[in-house]
Amino acid sequence: MSQVQETILVTGGAGYIGSHTVLALLKAGYGVVVLDNLEYGHRELVENVLKVPLVVGDINDRPTLDRLFATHNITAVMHFAAYIAVGESVQNPAKYYRNNVSGTLTLLEAMVAANVKRIVFASTCSIYGMPKQVPMTEEHPIAPINPYATTKRMVEQILSDFDRAYDLRSVVFRFFNASGADPEGLLGEDHNPETHLIPLVLLTALGKRESISIWGTDYPTPDGTCLRDYIHVSDLANAYLLGLKYLSEGGKSEVFNLGNGNGFSVKQVIETAASVTGVEIKVLECDRRVGDPPVLVGSCDKAKNILGWHPQYSDLSDIMLHAWQWHQKRHSGHE
Ligand SMILES: NC(=O)c1ccc[n+]([C@@H]2O[C@H](COP(=O)([O-])OP(=O)(O)OC[C@H]3O[C@@H](n4cnc5c(N)ncnc54)[C@H](O)[C@@H]3O)[C@@H](O)[C@H]2O)c1
Repeated sequence: MSQVQETILVTGGAGYIGSHTVLALLKAGYGVVVLDNLEYGHRELVENVLKVPLVVGDINDRPTLDRLFATHNITAVMHFAAYIAVGESVQNPAKYYRNNVSGTLTLLEAMVAANVKRIVFASTCSIYGMPKQVPMTEEHPIAPINPYATTKRMVEQILSDFDRAYDLRSVVFRFFNASGADPEGLLGEDHNPETHLIPLVLLTALGKRESISIWGTDYPTPDGTCLRDYIHVSDLANAYLLGLKYLSEGGKSEVFNLGNGNGFSVKQVIETAASVTGVEIKVLECDRRVGDPPVLVGSCDKAKNILGWHPQYSDLSDIMLHAWQWHQKRHSGHE
């Protein structure tokens, strides 16, 4: 392993995507410090699996951030810490604006004060709102339809203003659906509550849930169910390394989609899960939900062309297999 003389602060590094990115950073030879308040993160992953310093603290807590930057020689930040539940953001927008926007602002101010001028930020494809064309490029109009997505749009705006005023350069990644797990089985997706389709289907296969609901079977898609773009979490993590390298080489602030480029329907996901697990999965066909677009698929040509990003695991069976291996391990009590 080549040693890179840099230490990266990963906020939310005890969570799903953050922990996979920490692993990728370690494999590439970076030093890492994780900041996570552990509200949703997993201490044991950071301390026992990744074995990197964990600062248990909050991005809203400026003294903690100042201490952290003063103690560790941080050269760049990868920022994942946020609340992520769309439904909850509609019920309780204050909580989301406080954490995702105000917390990020506090983090960015602390970075400027500490003269740390590079950040890679986890945004979302949901800032595009209802798709006007697919696949969606970065030029697609921005029109978020829920507070969660609006928090991400606001942070993107703040980052743009911080670049102009303070020379803080950013790479913003707009993810489609993060999915899968570390192919070697060290890490995986463990949200509580879980709202994402692949883990929900696998929890059904494991007998932890009765059935999986399909919300709408009469969409204008080949099999009538919604199409979504699933991107393997290890491919996301590798894009983070490339985003960091791009900034280190002097790249200007830039926004990139990160997705698979292919849509998979809800029925395809369930069928793939049945084939990978060998378990028949009980399905409930329900009415459409409000606000679900029929197709959400991104174009990732910009990340491929500018960053040289090449996703390794675009096949849904690979994504499912890695997720399944993790879920089996996670729920066997041997993780
Ligand atoms: N999972 C997806 O498909 C997806 C899609 C698009 C964007 N994103 C974005 O990626 C990021 C990571 O998502 P994830 O799925 O890994 O979520 P996650 O909940 O697994 O991880 C988020 C982590 O941040 C921590 N955290 C939250 N608020 C904090 C705070 N104020 N201070 C310190 N730590 C805090 C949580 O404890 C958790 O460990 C989020 O910013 C999310 O908006 C995720």
